[in-house]
Amino acid sequence: MSTKRSTTTTMEISSPLKKARAGLEESKGESCPTTAFKNLKYLNGFGAELESEALEGALPKGQNTPQICPYGLHAEQLSGSSFTTPRVHNQRSWLYRIRPTCKHAPFKPVSAEEGKYLVNDFSQQVINPNQLRWKPFPMPQDGEQLDFVQGLKTLAGAGAPDVKTGMAIHIYACNKSMGNKAFCNSDGDMLIVPQQGTLYVRTEFGLLEVAPREICVIQRGIRFTVDIDGPSRGYICEVYNGHFKLPDLGPIGANGLANPRDFQSPVAAFEDKKCSFEAVQKFMGKLFTTTLEYSPYDVVAWFGNYVPYKYNLWNFCAVNSVTFDHMDPSIFTVLTCPSAEPGVAVADFVIFPPRWLVQEKTFRPPYYHRNCMSEFMGNIEGRYEAKPEGFLPGGGSLHSVMMGHGPDADTYNKASQAELKPVKLPEDSLAFMFESTYMFKLTQWGNDAPKDEEYYKCWEGVAENFDPENPHPAPKA
Ligand SMILES: [Fe+2]
Repeated sequence: MSTKRSTTTTMEISSPLKKARAGLEESKGESCPTTAFKNLKYLNGFGAELESEALEGALPKGQNTPQICPYGLHAEQLSGSSFTTPRVHNQRSWLYRIRPTCKHAPFKPVSAEEGKYLVNDFSQQVINPNQLRWKPFPMPQDGEQLDFVQGLKTLAGAGAPDVKTGMAIHIYACNKSMGNKAFCNSDGDMLIVPQQGTLYVRTEFGLLEVAPREICVIQRGIRFTVDIDGPSRGYICEVYNGHFKLPDLGPIGANGLANPRDFQSPVAAFEDKKCSFEAVQKFMGKLFTTTLEYSPYDVVAWFGNYVPYKYNLWNFCAVNSVTFDHMDPSIFTVLTCPSAEPGVAVADFVIFPPRWLVQEKTFRPPYYHRNCMSEFMGNIEGRYEAKPEGFLPGGGSLHSVMMGHGPDADTYNKASQAELKPVKLPEDSLAFMFESTYMFKLTQWGNDAPKDEEYYKCWEGVAENFDPENPHPAPKA
């Protein structure tokens, strides 16, 4: 495993489709910003007890905290759950590192400018019940140079991390690598959905390369650095309590949807480097900073089940009706962060993948709907089946609790008359949803971000075909 990193270089950027597909076959590397990301290796599996050592013998044998660790390393536990959480839910990792993470000068608040778009307390935010659709969220403008942290903006959310209740949706838009700057979030786990640009993520556990149509989860407390090779944008779901897990499959059986073996965690990679390194901590939504005199990526070996991971959405094995009716979108759940109430999620991450539609005697697009949950949607690529126009890649929509939504008029009018032969939804399209039991408020930034102010009109033309003389209307075609 490479333990050194070279300087950043700019190289060719492949299309999101090509890159994510390539990731199914072999590790990539033709456009990575540092040689360390070439031919990355990963550990496969979800929720498993994993281990990795960049130097042979760096993991202590038979115990966690020997009097002196191999190679003179320091043992440090990272707890993702309370010590006493039942074993089936307990998450923690042990890191064997050159220095313990407590070795730093006190953190100080960042400047008022930096982090001003991050919101942690939604009690005083904007209440808007309407169906909302955002235009593609703006990239850095007017010569702005923003890294991943500087380009983070909170869009909507509920609750607050200090009471470990709720979640937040953030948008990131950046055009600069973080370089010698590490970010760490005390508030929650972050599920990151790149829409444009590959993220080259250094973590304390090793390296992750995450292209559009892939996602990654970085749990609370894990330091990471995002480098990029061009303008990058994406969505983040931050959960203030609990962790993402795979949904139960019930009668589907033991396989299908997101299979555990397709989740990939990094292998240990360290650098022993004396240098000036900024560490930024998000703590109750505020950013604090300190300067380290060394690289924080000094973990030589680790083991445990609290480990960041990535997942290629091409690997999602969709299950759907092969008889009739449009199934509920929960069949496309990739990951869920459960609340204390069975079947009710703090956040579900749901995708709408390319797939065959074969239902007979069925209105095939999503049905009209009012939901006790909040539904935020983003578009990674292409056209979404229920809104082929206007819901653009890089944009978003929010259908809040009990607000009616569904296919636009054109989609309804066409689909209700369509010939029901098998249809493949195009492979160059992929939308997703963060669905939550919480009622979202908008941040001021989210409220002000460019929206389609005439979104509501997309339903104005839905045909009113009611005919009391005709109980069995048929398609005209
Ligand atoms: Fe819905």
